[in-house]
Amino acid sequence: MTIEPVNTEPVPLAVAGLSASYGVVPALRDVSITLHSGEIVTLIGANGAGKSTLIKAICGLVRPSAGNVRLFGEDVTGLSPDRLVRKGLSVVPEGRRLFSEMTMRENLELGAFARSDRAAVGRDFERVIDLFPELRERLATPAGAFSGGQQQMIAVARALMSAPRVLLLDEPTIGLAPAVVDRIADIITRIARTGVNVLLVEQNAETALSVADRAYILEAGAITAEDRAITLAESPEVQRAYLGI
Ligand SMILES: Nc1ncnc2c1ncn2[C@@H]1O[C@H](COP(=O)(O)OP(=O)(O)OP(=O)(O)O)[C@@H](O)[C@H]1O
Ligand SMILES: [Mg+2]
Repeated sequence: MTIEPVNTEPVPLAVAGLSASYGVVPALRDVSITLHSGEIVTLIGANGAGKSTLIKAICGLVRPSAGNVRLFGEDVTGLSPDRLVRKGLSVVPEGRRLFSEMTMRENLELGAFARSDRAAVGRDFERVIDLFPELRERLATPAGAFSGGQQQMIAVARALMSAPRVLLLDEPTIGLAPAVVDRIADIITRIARTGVNVLLVEQNAETALSVADRAYILEAGAITAEDRAITLAESPEVQRAYLGI
């Protein structure tokens, strides 16, 4: 008889049996997803599938009616976004939600609101800006003056300023030109290589499946498929429904 070694490393993010509704209308039904260490996981779903509701239920903006959320093994179900930030979870929300009158630098500094180690924040600021060299010269420009793609980069940069260990991105490529989509995809890959665990929620299945290790499909609030991203990208049903093939 062999004894399997016990893997004691806590799972970065585990969502189990999560349900949520708006009034009487169910939006999530028994959703379970896991983000293992070092993974980029994507959740693909059409308009209205419940993607943003899942993000909001994870980060405490929508109250689940059932199920739980664990962050590195700790039950964090229903904790507010600012408590979650302090525990290492950061979100790039749908529609970016930048403060458009404030400068890019001020938006990034807001991302570090929960941190008190100014020296470490300063070092992270330089590291984060290095990911977006095209923006470095414009730190004093109001966020609203940037292009859509640049604003998305600023939103990602702001989320990184909290030094997250788990990063949730809600449709970061929507509405962007193909070259900018590729740039965002490349940035997500580079972020993951620095040890950040990434959950990427997307309608753009082609991009999402190309950057992710593993993928889930969300339909009408329920997970209907789960597999390696490369396997789902080759599945005829996924190709028909999500890849326009
Ligand atoms: N605040 C709300 N009040 C009532 N119903 C809502 C609310 N927000 C979302 N819904 C409904 O819940 C369902 C899931 O919406 P959700 O925004 O999570 O979808 P989504 O997958 O993020 O869609 P999209 O790709 O358009 O962003 C939809 O039917 C939507 O109309
Ligand atoms: Mg959404």
